[in-house]
Amino acid sequence: MTYMKRLLTGTVAALALALPAAATEYRIAVGDGAGGTQEALGKAFIAALEEESGGEMTGKLFLNGQLGDEQDTVTAAATGTLDFSILAINNITPFSPSVGTLTLPYVILSQEDAETLTQGEIGQQMIEQTIEDAGVRIIGWGYSGFRVLTNSKKPVSTVEDLKGLVIRVPKNEIMIETYKSWGINPTPMAWGETFAALQQKVVDGQDNPYMTVYAMKFDEVQKYVTDLHYIFSIEPLIVSEAMFESLSEEEQAQVLAAGEAATQASAQFLRDQEAKIREELIARGMEISEPADGEKEFMELATSAVWPKFYDQIGGKEVLDNVLTSLGREPA
Ligand code: MLT
Repeated sequence: MTYMKRLLTGTVAALALALPAAATEYRIAVGDGAGGTQEALGKAFIAALEEESGGEMTGKLFLNGQLGDEQDTVTAAATGTLDFSILAINNITPFSPSVGTLTLPYVILSQEDAETLTQGEIGQQMIEQTIEDAGVRIIGWGYSGFRVLTNSKKPVSTVEDLKGLVIRVPKNEIMIETYKSWGINPTPMAWGETFAALQQKVVDGQDNPYMTVYAMKFDEVQKYVTDLHYIFSIEPLIVSEAMFESLSEEEQAQVLAAGEAATQASAQFLRDQEAKIREELIARGMEISEPADGEKEFMELATSAVWPKFYDQIGGKEVLDNVLTSLGREPA
């Protein structure tokens, strides 16, 4: 054995002694930075996974899109080159249009609506559909709150005020059409490019929940906030279906139980943190405007123009009607 080989073998043996016996560490991609809902969901999942598996399974979070842009992580998980990813649901919709029902404007009107839909029968149907369409399994649901509009130029409280603003949206047809219904052409852009685009003023604004604005430090490059409620952001934790299928039944049950625990922790995290984070953003100099007239104009334009355009993609009008009636509302 050469000196180099002996040295390497010795180093590997020393490292092996320092590691916990047989713990499998999974890579978990996270689109956002530290301090937001995605990180909280990921931490809760890892803690529960370690507990459920008696320390045999654990995970490592890679924040800020280190393992790829959110939409790219869906492809990576589907092909089995990535284990888990935490991302906004709007970045899954292009791969599985059925989940688009959850990003149609003004369908989810409260955190309770979001929890009812995702944790009930409708969420279960979406899990099955996403496995079929996209090769990934949703095992946990994160809740981030309503996507508020931010911009660097002026206070916005009416649809008219939007004129002249260049707004970044995810590459998501429903969101693009929503802004069109409000009279402007938004700029579709990957999540990972958004901070730089705001900083360099390639775009004037974007929308995301307070928790995300904070985690991404958007307050450094954005001044005005409009308290819109058009989409309640849901942040699923997905696992590669190929990887999941390769686990034993016992391990699969442990992963699912950890996902369920993370879901509950995420809902509580939002309830505890959102109001504080909003205050913190005000303290850092952000100015918040309420939409005029109880948001009526935003809502009427978006629901009348956008919902019918996506009936086919989401599997028919009856799919939306089922969602609305399960929330105790009138069908569309
Ligand atoms: C997006 O705007 O692309 C996403 O909502 C970002 C996120 O996951 O927070």
